Amino acid sequence: MTQSSGKSLLELNNIGKSFPGTRALDGVTLRLNAGEVVSLLGENGAGKSTLMKILSGAWPHGSFDGEIRLAAPDGSLVPARFSDTRDAHAAGISMIHQELSVFPELTVAEHLAMEALPHWIQWEPVFARAQRFLDTLGFGLRARDKVGSLSIGNQQCVEIARALYRDARILIFDEPTSALTEQETERLFGIIDRLRAEGRGILYITHRMDEIFRLSDRIFVLRDGRAVDEARARTDAGPVPRKELENKLISAMVGREIDNVYPRKNRAFGAEVLRVEGLRVCDSSGNARVEGATFQLRAGEVLGLAGLLGAGRSELMEGLFGVLNGAGPKGRSFGVEGRIWARGKECSLQNPRAAIDEYLAFVSEDRKGSGLVLGQSVRSNMVLPSLSAGRAELTRAPGVFAPVRGVAERSAVGRWRDELRIKLASVDQPVNELSGGNQQKVVLAKWLMTEPAILFLDEPTRGVDVGAKAEIYEWIQRLAAKGIGILLASSEMPELIGLCHRVIVLREGRFSAEFSDADVTQEKIMKAASL
Ligand SMILES: Nc1ncnc2c1ncn2[C@@H]1O[C@H](COP(=O)(O)OP(=O)(O)OP(=O)(O)O)[C@@H](O)[C@H]1O
Ligand SMILES: [Mg+2]
Repeated sequence: MTQSSGKSLLELNNIGKSFPGTRALDGVTLRLNAGEVVSLLGENGAGKSTLMKILSGAWPHGSFDGEIRLAAPDGSLVPARFSDTRDAHAAGISMIHQELSVFPELTVAEHLAMEALPHWIQWEPVFARAQRFLDTLGFGLRARDKVGSLSIGNQQCVEIARALYRDARILIFDEPTSALTEQETERLFGIIDRLRAEGRGILYITHRMDEIFRLSDRIFVLRDGRAVDEARARTDAGPVPRKELENKLISAMVGREIDNVYPRKNRAFGAEVLRVEGLRVCDSSGNARVEGATFQLRAGEVLGLAGLLGAGRSELMEGLFGVLNGAGPKGRSFGVEGRIWARGKECSLQNPRAAIDEYLAFVSEDRKGSGLVLGQSVRSNMVLPSLSAGRAELTRAPGVFAPVRGVAERSAVGRWRDELRIKLASVDQPVNELSGGNQQKVVLAKWLMTEPAILFLDEPTRGVDVGAKAEIYEWIQRLAAKGIGILLASSEMPELIGLCHRVIVLREGRFSAEFSDADVTQEKIMKAASL
């Protein structure tokens, strides 16, 4: 691995940015050298994404304070002003998005060439040129493939290829691995190593400490919009000792020490709250995504679902919650078969509303797709499932004057905002103005507000900072202690081991093993999860 050449690529000078009611960034100064990976670490809402949006032209010149300075050909740093992301692209700066936000129907070649294409086109040379370029990258991409048909990992590679096609000198990654498989993640790290060796500069945002230590030359910590710490993760003598640095970074980031991440497990179990027999979930082509799933869940129990990406964990939850019945998302139709008893009563959970009426709640993994209505306020998002349910205690007297319900609603929303420490300017703010991790907390809040007896959590800590993770873990044990039965899917094995009483492993839609918490280990889970 090459060390940074010390040649300066970029300086963000004294950057400030305000939103109504929020000072998102305040006097932040950051430098990036050629051949260097700098990671940005900070709590949810600390300002990481905002800083990178400024650098990538998504917030135009004039909408923030301070100055962006970029290396000129002679090596001196000169001020840069971007009106949009195209300007930033032209200046050699590209942000790699988690998944392709653009046009699924276009081919890989069209994505690469998009900005340079005239209206009249001879396609053959475009494909040929794109394919020659792709071959030099070795990502295994084919110019003629439609981007929408690719896996998330390959879509991300298209984004990277696109940046390199424009010969970007600075690449920005904002939590790039959250939707990737382990292999895709490894491949991405290999690509980043190569970009560094080529002398490009990388800015990398993550909440995962392993990634910080795997990739970074330097780590930059933001807290409440200010730079609070900066550390080298690698010296000429090699990587610096991890544990000590990790503790120092975490306390700089959250303003306190975090020890004992996993709270004591609840040990008092009650009656069975959920029984599932022979569950089968099919996709639109009739392929079983889950087959023969049989299990029970007791009040106060936390049951883990482990498995590789695509093993059927999400589909199992979606099937039970009635999300996949009939016409599924994007017009696909699914089939769900099997018998389900909720709180001792056999029921057919035809749709989410029926599930909510049986005291089920589902914090889904896909917060943009099914979790939140992005244009609507935090408040209406939070109360949505409670209001759509037919359960009398949630809607309370339906004839009550709207303003009265408004007041009750406000206080419930305010209580959950405080309980989960959701960072926002106002509960009437559109939810898409919240930072990623705070959006995740809104999803959690809106389901906890339904006062469920059975709670499904699918990757509940994705995109959440280390401090908030520990708080969510505490919540899980507290809810279990209150007698809620919890089904928890996670790809983080320490999380399953630290929280669950039992762990079921799925492999290609079938249960391949079950472990009690007394004898579960990461090795056993991995072995049962892989073929
Ligand atoms: N468009 C916007 N309108 C209003 N406020 C915003 C907007 N974008 C960001 N903010 C606010 O700015 C602050 C910083 O948000 P930002 O998204 O940069 O955080 P982050 O560090 O990326 O957090 P996370 O780890 O959760 O992704 C937050 O308080 C957020 O609510
Ligand atoms: Mg962010």
